[in-house]
This record gives sequence, C-alpha cells and structure tokens, in this order.
Amino acid sequence: MLDIAHNVPKNHFEDWQLELAAKLLKDFDSEEHNLLDVLHFFQGTFGYIDKELIPLLAKFFNLSRAEVHGVISFYHDFRDEKPAAYVLKICQAESCQAMGSNKLTTELKAALNIDFHETSTATDITLEPVYCLGNCSCSPNLMINSQMFSRVTSESLTQILQGLTEEQHD
Ligand code: FES
Repeated sequence: MLDIAHNVPKNHFEDWQLELAAKLLKDFDSEEHNLLDVLHFFQGTFGYIDKELIPLLAKFFNLSRAEVHGVISFYHDFRDEKPAAYVLKICQAESCQAMGSNKLTTELKAALNIDFHETSTATDITLEPVYCLGNCSCSPNLMINSQMFSRVTSESLTQILQGLTEEQHD
C-alpha cells in the first residue's frame, strides 16, 4: 500500500487567467445544457471555479449570474479555491458507511487536523467528501487525485498518509 501511495501523481493546474478562460470557452457550444460540462472542464483546468468565471459563463450561455451561481453551489464537487497537490476524497455514501467510512473519516480529519473542504498545508492534502465512487463492492473507498484505494482500514489509511507525506520530502 505504501508503494502505491508513493505513485499518486500530484495535481497540476493552470494558474487562473481570465483571458485564457475566455479563449478556451470559444471551443464550446453555448447551448445551456452544456453548462455542467463546461464547469467540469474549467475545474479540471484551473482546479476550481474562479468567481471571475461566473459573469463570463452567464454571458456565454445567456443566463443570469445568479443562475450560473445556483448551478455551481448546487453541486458539492465544485470548489471556489485552488486545491492542494493531493485531493483526498473519502466516500460517505451508504455502502462505504456500512463498512466503516465514518470511523475512517474521523481518523482522517484528526490525522490531518482539518475538516472537509479544507487543506492541510503540512501534507499538501485537500480533504473532500464524495458520495459513491462507483466501487461499492470494495468498500470502504477513498480516492486521491485519480487513484482509488479500496477496502481501506485504519492501518492502510495510516500507510497511505505516510506514503504521501514521504512523497513530499523525496
Ligand atoms: S458507496 Fe462508496 S463507492 Fe459506492
């Protein structure tokens, strides 16, 4: 498990630039139903949804700023700040809960000394909840960037965190 945690690639996002966002937006269709895809694209590019993006999207999709803001705030996935090098999402949905994810979440928050949607600068980890990772048969699950960790135990969680911490100092 330790070796696996050593191999998690760090997040690399572009620094926010309004001009770049406006240029990238031109590649999309301005049909309103594309708004979610566009939001996911920008979060994947910049790591979060900058507040400057809201009027840009409102104009592009011919929506009000409140409508765009409403969509962003409805979905827990969208961030309003750039995340750390590692985004650790721990599953809070039913199957993982039944297999102990509540306890793991408590241990994780204590180990990192942060709550959900916060970043531990010491470990460069942003902690987020997620509601099913589509891997229920191997619960409990967590994901670090795009790498899944399954059947996580207190012991393996400690090893995962240790692996990431060592990665910082390699
Ligand atoms: S409930 Fe956790 S992966 Fe489905």
